[in-house]
Amino acid sequence: MVDARSRLKEVYAHPVGRDAIDKVLLQLGRSRGWVRNPVVANLRLGTVARLARPVLGDGFVSSLVTVLADHDDGAARLDQVGAPAQHAPDGAAAPGGVVLAGAEWWREAVFYQVYPRSFADSDGDGIGDLRGITSRLEHLADLGVDCVWLSPIFDSPNEDMGYDVRDYRAVMAEMGTLADLDELVAGCHERGMRIILDLVVNHTSAEHEWFRAAVADPDGPYGDYYHLVPGAPGEDGSGPPPNNWTSFFGGSAWRWVPEARRWALHLFAPGQMDLNWENPQVRAEVAEIVRWWRGRGIDGFRLDVINYISKRSGLPDGNEAIGRLMGFPGIEHYFFGPHLHAYLAELRQAGFTRRSDDPPPASTARERFADGTLGGPLPPDEAGVMVGETPGVGVEMSRLLSNRSRAELDLVFNFDVLDGPGKVRWDDYRYDLAYLKGFYLDYLARTGPGDAIALFYDNHDNPRMLSKVLGAKDRDPELRAAAAKVLATIQLTLPGTPFLFQGQEIGAVNQEFTSVGDLQDVESRNRYAELCETGLSEAVALAQVLPGARDHARVPMRWEPGLTTGFTAGTPWQTGREDSRGFTVAEQTDDPDSVLTYYRDLIALRRAEPALTRGAFRALAPRSRTYFGWLRTAVGGSADWLIEVNLTSRTIRRPRGVPEAETVFGSPGGPLRATLAPYECRVARLTPGNGRTASAAGDSTGADPASSGVITSWSKMEGWSA
Ligand code: NOJ
Ligand code: MG
Repeated sequence: MVDARSRLKEVYAHPVGRDAIDKVLLQLGRSRGWVRNPVVANLRLGTVARLARPVLGDGFVSSLVTVLADHDDGAARLDQVGAPAQHAPDGAAAPGGVVLAGAEWWREAVFYQVYPRSFADSDGDGIGDLRGITSRLEHLADLGVDCVWLSPIFDSPNEDMGYDVRDYRAVMAEMGTLADLDELVAGCHERGMRIILDLVVNHTSAEHEWFRAAVADPDGPYGDYYHLVPGAPGEDGSGPPPNNWTSFFGGSAWRWVPEARRWALHLFAPGQMDLNWENPQVRAEVAEIVRWWRGRGIDGFRLDVINYISKRSGLPDGNEAIGRLMGFPGIEHYFFGPHLHAYLAELRQAGFTRRSDDPPPASTARERFADGTLGGPLPPDEAGVMVGETPGVGVEMSRLLSNRSRAELDLVFNFDVLDGPGKVRWDDYRYDLAYLKGFYLDYLARTGPGDAIALFYDNHDNPRMLSKVLGAKDRDPELRAAAAKVLATIQLTLPGTPFLFQGQEIGAVNQEFTSVGDLQDVESRNRYAELCETGLSEAVALAQVLPGARDHARVPMRWEPGLTTGFTAGTPWQTGREDSRGFTVAEQTDDPDSVLTYYRDLIALRRAEPALTRGAFRALAPRSRTYFGWLRTAVGGSADWLIEVNLTSRTIRRPRGVPEAETVFGSPGGPLRATLAPYECRVARLTPGNGRTASAAGDSTGADPASSGVITSWSKMEGWSA
């Protein structure tokens, strides 16, 4: 149990403490070496509290202790923080008796996120829809996608583009009908692809029937579905809200609902009402929704902000210093809440796991073999895949949520990869790929086969990684294609499960928005309005919104050249303002050098060569900030692989000792050169037995990018062998 007498190193040995300290250091742009300094490591928390009081005020340390205590019951600990855990062998029963092995298709799969509103419009209303997606399934099958994830398509008033659900069992009118969805599911399965949907159950729309019933009778059964809190006697909404929590979309996280005479909690937009997961009825409803969709053939869900569902009882005020540091007062009371693990384990059992008497789902995906050909329909999965969207969790918390032995989530998104040290999404800066390398080496060194890593850079909530890396150079077609291939190479050949976001496969970049009128997203618009209210000029406010605007990734897919890019026959709901030539599906499909061809070929290679998914991993030159090279070892008699990328737009020297290998993609053939061209990448097959002589390349010059314990020996690599 951590308390004020504990030393900082004990906090760092606690999974939540470790992540919290790492997060603060990352936020401050400081190295982790700081906390390993023996003097600092041996400080008692009480002393830290006294020393830090002038900066952090009172209560910071006690808030931290409280959060750690929530996860201090032994059950919430993995055996060793910061190093690979001892993993249950494949086939072992997880707590609760669920046998998970064999069902873990998602470990080797390539996921592809579709933003339905912007993928393809079938009826000319300018809004992407389900039939549009069905009409483009061949593109996804060709690309080699194993599982399609659809962002929300459930009935919604669209205050936050479907992340505000009005009816969990109906399709949004502009997207089509349930029958259209059934057809889409069957179309995916027929092509050997699974399909998952977005489950948004931290909150519902204020228009959901549960919320309407709660407002009509706050003391009735539905009143307890939400966080409805009475004000002071005579309250009319003008008094202070129940606590100091703020919304991610600006302002207080509370709004006064006059009809109910209650305050209602909304961590997001005012129409996104947080559900009260302490109520077992709410949890049972969610499990039933999942089971209903599983029966229709849905293979699992991505679970929206799922780490926010457990809020500390009594909803106390957030610590101000933590609020300042993280930008959101109150966050320590819900981002990794007290009952999170229990709720997830329960949902896995009650919602996602098949029961012996369940009727078979409407359809299942056909088996797809290593050469891409299709077999018959697979038997139903024992459990639907659970992909957690988990903002704010670090490596250890990710393991607590997704390690096989825990029987909670299967995969989680760790967002720390998206912005460099000291940076946040709204900053205008060039992302250094050395950080990405350090991030993954650290992550891989601290995980083993029972853990799972989701590899992703782009989604509907972020600007394009390609643009963050290249800055204004993202308009240079050569650099753009080369850097897109670097990102593809890393994402498709490191250990982990890649999640592509639509457009990545054609090298999509950010848009040229020039006025706030170009922005459709509630978050961007609110931020702009708030900045203007602080007295900033419109131009300055816009400049502080554009770098992080979610709109960049939400523009229509570029299928072909032309004003509406083959997305619609009508007027698109949002217009793409990027009109480069050569970066559409039509232009790239048959071009052997295109980004699309590279993705397609690399995914096919990945399927054919198990070393690239299940093979052990070893980094070459782990300390280099410019070169990223690694080996993946043979599985079942296949080849060893060498992968190399130049992380920069400059020519760099290749480290000495890179083993002989035959290039399959990327770099031009011929003898190995001493240098790598800007963003050059190379995927190469090692000549037999050669990989193990590669130790000379195991180190090189350059500062270590904030990574601890990179993988440097073959024995550690075994952690990633099948
Ligand atoms: C995360 C989703 O990805 C984002 O688009 C949404 O605004 C919030 N969750 C709230 O549901
Ligand atoms: Mg439409």
